Amino acid sequence: MAISKVGVVGLGTMGAGIAQVSITAGHETAGREVSQELAEKGRAKIEHYLGRAVEKGRMTADERDAALARLTLTTELADLADCDLVVEAVLEELPLKREIFGELDRLTQPDAILATNTSALSVAEIADATGNPGRVVGMHFFNPAPVLPLVEIVRAPKSSDEAVRAAYDWAEQAGKQPVNCNDTPGFIVNRILIPLLNDCVRVLDEANVTPEDLDKAMVNGAGWPLGPCALVDLVGIDVHVHASEALHEKLGEDRMAPPQRLLELQTQGKLGRKTGAGFFEY
Ligand SMILES: NC(=O)c1ccc[n+]([C@@H]2O[C@H](COP(=O)([O-])OP(=O)(O)OC[C@H]3O[C@@H](n4cnc5c(N)ncnc54)[C@H](O)[C@@H]3O)[C@@H](O)[C@H]2O)c1
Repeated sequence: MAISKVGVVGLGTMGAGIAQVSITAGHETAGREVSQELAEKGRAKIEHYLGRAVEKGRMTADERDAALARLTLTTELADLADCDLVVEAVLEELPLKREIFGELDRLTQPDAILATNTSALSVAEIADATGNPGRVVGMHFFNPAPVLPLVEIVRAPKSSDEAVRAAYDWAEQAGKQPVNCNDTPGFIVNRILIPLLNDCVRVLDEANVTPEDLDKAMVNGAGWPLGPCALVDLVGIDVHVHASEALHEKLGEDRMAPPQRLLELQTQGKLGRKTGAGFFEY
């Protein structure tokens, strides 16, 4: 199916980025927030990043203005009724996502695609809050969504081939690098990266290595573009701990549980770049 208008539910970190991807790709996009103030904040974030793109010569001022003109803001889910694709990016809470999907199911056209950006919840459990789980898929963007090309297109057991294909084609047309996968805990990247980063953090104490040397080792010995400690600082220690706990709860392997050192940094409020300190000072 052809996707013309897109809805984004939640204009937080991920939702604002996804809305930016959508308007930059030429789609009329309606962003829904819980308050007008938060909606304006989301738009301001998008304006800021598009402004930087103009400064760096990646888009013209006219292209920026045209993209921003495609964004409408609302506090009503009902204003997404004419969207062909709705991407949900609200807090990672199952009851909240199920409530929103139930409402979207009632409000939107029956052939609209409903996608969740969940990182760790089951897409199937979200889809089952609708009367038509065939049209529900996962579209797992990475942070920052306008910069990182990957989108995991997640097929739940009841997702239809049409919905999966439409989500994939839309992401590709929007300049992303989509990949297909099943609805399993952590999907692809987090399933691999979270336990691997936890192993890296445990090696700090096991081998008595400094964060500087651990990063130096993985950059120079394994060809990583960024060291593991710098990466966890960038992701946010709290975000990584939360994702580790979710994966550990679902798959039960010890190495998926957050290492003690990360829990301590979290307790100290050292959450990485965003707080000015984590493994490193910023
Ligand atoms: N941050 C990441 O690195 C990342 C990466 C991929 C996927 N995700 C997933 O994306 C989703 C959003 O994460 P985020 O980092 O953008 O979070 P965020 O905290 O930046 O944004 C949360 C959004 O939820 C909305 N919200 C809060 N309470 C609500 C309610 N009661 N009803 C409706 N909306 C409500 C907020 O207004 C906001 O728009 C989560 O499912 C998360 O797992 C996050």
